Amino acid sequence: MSGNVDALYIFLLIVSGMMTLLIFTALIYFAARYRRQHGVQAEQIEGSTPLEITWSIIPLGVFMVIFAWGAVVYFKGRTPPRDSTEVYVVAKQWMWKLEHAEGQREINELHVPVGRDVKLIMTSQDVIHSFYVPAFRMKQDVLPGRYTVAWFRATKAGTYHLFCAEYCGTQHSGMIGSIVVQEPAQYEAWMSGGTTGPLSATGEKIFSELGCVTCHRSDTQGRGPNLQGVFGTPVQLEDGRMITADENYVRESILDPGAKVVKGFKPVMPTFQGLVSEEQLNALVAYVKSLSKPGEAGGSVKPAVAVPAKDATKGSQVK
Ligand code: CUA
Repeated sequence: MSGNVDALYIFLLIVSGMMTLLIFTALIYFAARYRRQHGVQAEQIEGSTPLEITWSIIPLGVFMVIFAWGAVVYFKGRTPPRDSTEVYVVAKQWMWKLEHAEGQREINELHVPVGRDVKLIMTSQDVIHSFYVPAFRMKQDVLPGRYTVAWFRATKAGTYHLFCAEYCGTQHSGMIGSIVVQEPAQYEAWMSGGTTGPLSATGEKIFSELGCVTCHRSDTQGRGPNLQGVFGTPVQLEDGRMITADENYVRESILDPGAKVVKGFKPVMPTFQGLVSEEQLNALVAYVKSLSKPGEAGGSVKPAVAVPAKDATKGSQVK
């Protein structure tokens, strides 16, 4: 993204520079040319429509170019490619906690390979922070209570500064870290270091420990919706709305289950607010996500299609 952002920024500088030059040249020229002189009477000039149209249309054109160009760069920078590697980020006063989908955890350091799209799914444990990597021209606020997303693809190996760019208390200026971009081979070596297993597997464990699995069964007989294949698909809600099951939806459904109840279900789920940490939430989200990616985690949960149709029609009356 940096090339695109820089090109746009340089364009803005050139346009502003040219306008400044034009205005000051005209200012100085007119001040000299029409200065007060003895024996010369000032002439009153009425407005000129062609002139006014010209100086409206030309700037409009220039601004529309900036707008369209800026919008393209913005949307490219905002939209993570589909097959990005995912990293969960939890900000807190005053550190960055990062967890790879593969399970590696880091603090104030993020290892990534050259040339891979990396999607950051970020939240804060306390106040607003901002994830800022100047070398990648990337900055995204990190908010408590929801996920924000950012992405990048590092093109050169090296170590890059990570800053918090939102004043967040006494040690704000110390909330710094680094992005370590490695050649693929080096990265693989780093990756093979100690891990607790994929994040989604951790999530699956929490899912069964918290008893989620008793209602969100992998057949259609649970009191809660079957979560197989739900992530990333449209969901019909009880109040008629359609939403897409994304990270924020899964998060909200865990913390505020009554907010968006799936059609055909009752709002019987208790909240898990205060019972799960941000890290556990991330693991749960990663697990629910893995249920939509065949071959990843969720190994012990049978897919819904394995249930005979006869049983599936019995309904959900579990007392
Ligand atoms: Cu976190 Cu400033």
